[in-house]
Formats: sequence, C-alpha cells, structure tokens
Amino acid sequence: MVILDMVSEKIIEERLKALRSTIALHDFHYYVQDAPIIPDADYDVLFRTLQQLEQQYPHLITPDSPTQRVGAPPLKVFTRLTHQTPMLSLTNAFTEDEAIAFDKRIREALNVDQVNYAVEPKFDGLAVSLVYTNGILTNGATRGDGYTGEDITLNLRTIPSIPLRLQTASAINQFEVRGEVVMLKADFEHLNEQQRNKGEKLFVNPRNAAAGSLRQLDSNITAARKLTFFAYDAVLSHKNQPLFSKHSAILDYLKSQQFLVAQQSGMTTGVAGLLAYYHEMSTLRLSLPYEIDGVVYKVDNLTQQETLGYVSRAPRFAVAHKFPAQEASTKLLAIEIQVGRTGALTPVARLAPVFVGGVTVTNATLHNEDEVQRKQIMIGDTVIVRRAGDVIPEVVAVILEQRPAHAQPFIMPDHCPACGSKAARLPGEAVTRCTGGLYCPAQRKQAIWHFASRRALDIDGLGEKLIDQLIDCELVHTPADLYKLNIDTLAGLERMAEKSARNLVTAIEHSKRTTLPRFIYALGIRHIGEATAKALANQTSDLDRLMTLNIEQLQQIPDVGPVVAQSIADFFSEAHNREVIRQLLSSGLQWEVANHDAQQLAQTNSAVSGKTFVLTGTLPTMTRDQAKIKIEQQGGKVTSSVSSATSYVVAGSDPGSKYTKAIELSIPVLDEDQLLSLLQNISIDAQQGN
Ligand code: IVH
Repeated sequence: MVILDMVSEKIIEERLKALRSTIALHDFHYYVQDAPIIPDADYDVLFRTLQQLEQQYPHLITPDSPTQRVGAPPLKVFTRLTHQTPMLSLTNAFTEDEAIAFDKRIREALNVDQVNYAVEPKFDGLAVSLVYTNGILTNGATRGDGYTGEDITLNLRTIPSIPLRLQTASAINQFEVRGEVVMLKADFEHLNEQQRNKGEKLFVNPRNAAAGSLRQLDSNITAARKLTFFAYDAVLSHKNQPLFSKHSAILDYLKSQQFLVAQQSGMTTGVAGLLAYYHEMSTLRLSLPYEIDGVVYKVDNLTQQETLGYVSRAPRFAVAHKFPAQEASTKLLAIEIQVGRTGALTPVARLAPVFVGGVTVTNATLHNEDEVQRKQIMIGDTVIVRRAGDVIPEVVAVILEQRPAHAQPFIMPDHCPACGSKAARLPGEAVTRCTGGLYCPAQRKQAIWHFASRRALDIDGLGEKLIDQLIDCELVHTPADLYKLNIDTLAGLERMAEKSARNLVTAIEHSKRTTLPRFIYALGIRHIGEATAKALANQTSDLDRLMTLNIEQLQQIPDVGPVVAQSIADFFSEAHNREVIRQLLSSGLQWEVANHDAQQLAQTNSAVSGKTFVLTGTLPTMTRDQAKIKIEQQGGKVTSSVSSATSYVVAGSDPGSKYTKAIELSIPVLDEDQLLSLLQNISIDAQQGN
C-alpha cells in the first residue's frame, strides 16, 4: 500500500476512473454488442494495470470497479431483500383466441380502435431486479415471491453484461432495472460438456443451469459460469427520474445505459401485428441464441398502461403468449432396441403418451448406452421428455424423487435383437453395433428403405410395411433383388392387389434411370450423405474408377476426410457389395455419364480433354494425385510411362527418367504453373460457354 498526498491521490483516482470506464466500455462492446473493438490481449493489459494500481492503493477501490465482479468470500446464507415495487407476474395466453381476446379487452377498456404494442421474447430464465443508487449497482435480487427476494448482488455483479454503473448517474438517485438472467444455449452446451468431462451431473436445460449458477453462496462459482442478463423493464418510482411516456422509450434508454436488450424486441400495431410476431418468433425460436418459452405483448403507451391497471398480481396491459411446452414429464414404460441401417443399436424409450412440443409423443431416443447410464435412467422411472421443433424427442432427465421401488436397470444386449449376431462396441465408440451386416434383416430392411427413399432411387410406393414383408418372406435380400420382382409375386403379398403391384413394378422400372450421385447415395455407405455423394460423382463419372481409388486418392476429393475415405474404401473392398452393384447395373440401372452440364461443358471446351499426361517429380503446391484428379475432371488422361502418344509431361522438382525420356521424344514439358493455366483457360472458356 502506498500513502499519497492529496494531489497525487487525485491524479491516481482520475487514472483509476479512466481505466474503469475504458474497461466498462470494452465489456459493453464484448458482452452486450457482441462486437469487441480491441484485441483480447489489449483488454488483458488494461485489466491487469487496473488490478495492479488497486493493489497499490486498496483504499481507492470502488464497488463499481470491474475488478470487483469477483473475489468476495462465500456467504453463509442469502439475506432477503424487499422489492420497493413488487415484481408481478404475467397472465398467460395459450391460444391465438386468448391473444385476440387480450387485444379486444384492451381496446374496449381504452375505447380505441387500435393499440400500439411493444413485443418481446419471453425469456426462459430467472427474473431479477437490479437497483442502482446514484448510478452505482448496489442491490440485486431474485424475484422470490414477488414482494421479497434473495440478495444475490455479489453473484449478479459477476455477470459481464450487467453494467456496474450507469452512464448518466447524476440524473437519477435510485433506478431499478428488471430483466432476466439466462444461460445462452452455446454456453449451456459448453458447461454440460465440461460437466461430462469431469464426470459431474449434467444440467437438464439452460434455465436450470442458470438457476443453479445464480443461486450459489460462493460468487466465484457464479463467475465461472457464463450468464447473460437481458433487460426488459425499468421502475420509475422516484420523482427526479427522467420521464418516459412509452415502454419502447424505456428500452431505448436502457440500451443507452449499455444494458443488453434483446434484438428481437420491437413494436407492432393491432392484433394482426401481435400474431405475426408470435409466428415469426416461433419460427426463429430454435435458432435464437437463448431459450424462450413464448412472447410478451405490452401496451406501449405508459399512460394507457396506467389506465388499464392491474388484476390481482398481474398487469392488465401485458400478456405472455406461450409456445407449446417443449418439455413434459411422463412414465418410461420400457426400453427397446432399434437396429439402424449401419447396425447401430439405439435404445429407445417407450413412454406413456404425453403431449409435448405440440404433438403426442410415445417414443424418445436414449441415444446410446452411456447416455442411459449418465442420466441414470431406469425402466419405470418418471422422466422429462423434450421435443424442440422437429427434433426427435429425447429423454433429458429422470425425476429421481419419483422412482418406484420396482424400477429396473437397463442392460445393453450383447446380441442383436433382430438377427442374434454378436453386438460389439469398439473401444472409443459410444455406439454398440450388430456385427451381422446385411445378414441382419433389420439392417437389410433399413438398407432397402434407404435405397428406395426419395432422395436416393425414389421408388414410389415401396413403404416400410412392404419392405418388412419382402425381407421376411425372403423375396428380397439386397437392393438388386428389387429389380427381379414381378407383378405376380407382389400381388400375392398382404395389402397388395394387382393394381398396386403393377404400379410398384412401374416405379421400380422408372428408378432404373437415375443419376450417379443418387446411385452412390443410395448404396448407403456409412458417412456418405447426399453432399458427399455429389462430390464423389463430380470427381469422376466413372463408377469403376471410383471403386478403385485408394484412401489417399479419395482424400483429395473435397469434403472427404480420413474417416469418410476409409468408409468408402471399406465398402468397395467388400466382394458382396461389388456383386450387388454388378447385379444392379446388369439389371439395367443407368445414368447419363457427365450429367453435370458444367462438367460436360468444361470437358468439351477443355484444352486438356483427350490429352495424355505423364506426371513426374514433386510439384510445388499439389500432390501428383491432386493434379491427376484435376486433369481427369477435364477429360484428360494420366498414364505412367512416356511414349510418343504422350501429349505433355508435367515435371516438378527432382524429376525421374520420364523427364529425360520426354526431352528425347521432344514431348512438351510443363511445370505446375503452366499446367494450372492450361486447366484454367478451360474453365474460363467453360464459363463463357455457360
Ligand atoms: S415483463 C409485470 N417481459 O415472465 C410483469 N417478463 O410471468 C413484468 N419474463 O417473472 C414482467 N421475459 O421472469 C416481462 N420480456 C419479458 C419477459 C418476462 C420473461 C418473465 C419474468 C416474469 C415472468 C412473468
């Protein structure tokens, strides 16, 4: 500690003040605007300088200093704080009709034709109140019962999006800001990942994680969790406060005071505007960085708000229009095993029907064995089921308090329930797989279903039930067998008549004319989705050639990494798979070669097309395989020895005897640059041709 004379102390104080407001400004840009204006390292220097100065002059530390966001000793208990103005709740509207009735009530009570509304997301977090005394954050509390809450000032101070001081302190001696503390979805995922790595309990959802983090007696724990505060209101209970006439003006003021106000907050007019906002937000819901459980409509005009007043504990001037709940609890009746196309055994929870996310759910995925263990799920438990948007419903947690005495543990079977083959879980993998391959009827069914699906060979009328029958009656073993089916056999199956059999045979016949990307996708090679199938087909329109590429060559293809390359190579190295492909082609399956216009154009316009190249030596920027692929894409050929038929030799550093041979035979020798410009010319021509 350093003792100062008054003049020096004033200078240090000014320096500290300047540092604090600079840091607060950068916190605002970083945490509120989400757009930092200086590099992190520069920020760290500022922060450290402030810390060092404060260490030297501890009597000059102020509660609004950014260094004071953390570091207080843990509390024994939370003390209670009485809210100066009660924190009320909102009435809910669950249907459009209820929202329409809300607007009608308002118009009638105000005797107006149309009302201006502020519209906001309804954050799924925890309501808190922040009191600023003479511009400094002095008290922060939970909502509690609405009248008194818990004093969590120390914890709220750790939240970087909460300003520790207001920008225009002098005007107001007491100012209360209200809003919601949430954990952003990304921060929640990250926290759970950390918990998982540490083998600790997972949080069920961002709201629970935010609540758990905020109600910590040790603010250092809160500081380590990433929380965000969204402001949605201010209380104007004091005489000398700035006067606002609209809720939207309050939000603007809060923004000017560097509070985070949701970007999705806005203004609208009339009930049509409210409903449009509701629909827009339900569409946006999943892509928002924070969770919401509805939207809030508030009469914008504060005089009108006052006229409308309150009913019991809720304002008449606002309503929460809720989205269908994404989570609900129900009984887990059984755990069954589903066998996927790639043999993955997935535990699936059979549930007592429950209405969640707008539909009745009876099944939910449990992902894999580890997830069941981690979530401590037992058969007979009451569980929380979540269905967000169109995402497959999942069991997120167990309500342990409601576990019945007869609850049974789940044991992953060591044999495939569909074919009895051994089920194995490879080291480092979360998934247990049936080792039966296409011997396994479940995998065969899935493989056929995938082959016939819309984005693959698109065989109309070949549904799941029919595939089950075809496999169970051993009429079909592989996709190639589909092309051997005839009307008589099909018409004899359950729920099939002559007409439907005839339609199906026609559809199967139609599917013979396809495209190479569809065909590759239809094969159901692990990790090959539509995009990769297209990338492969773009590379070479020659399936035979694709089947012979080695792992290194495959990895030169865009989007193909080591795992995908291995999977493709493994697939084509199986004699069984090659045989199925041979049968498919001999039954008449075909596609236009070079069916990509651009590729065709590039090939016809290409200076490389029809030319024969020999590559030698190390090229500066690409491997010989990459060069080969590029040449072949434009219709050129690459051979391994130089002869009079060779059009060009492309030589890198340390070329071999092929280079000497080229000189002897007077064959033009190109370097990489020359090869590239040769290749480039063509694409320019091709573009012009387009
Ligand atoms: S206004 C008079 N606006 O909903 C009511 N509340 O049931 C003042 N909430 O406890 C609240 N988002 O936690 C308001 N944009 C928003 C909100 C919001 C979420 C919560 C708040 C409150 C509950 C009301």
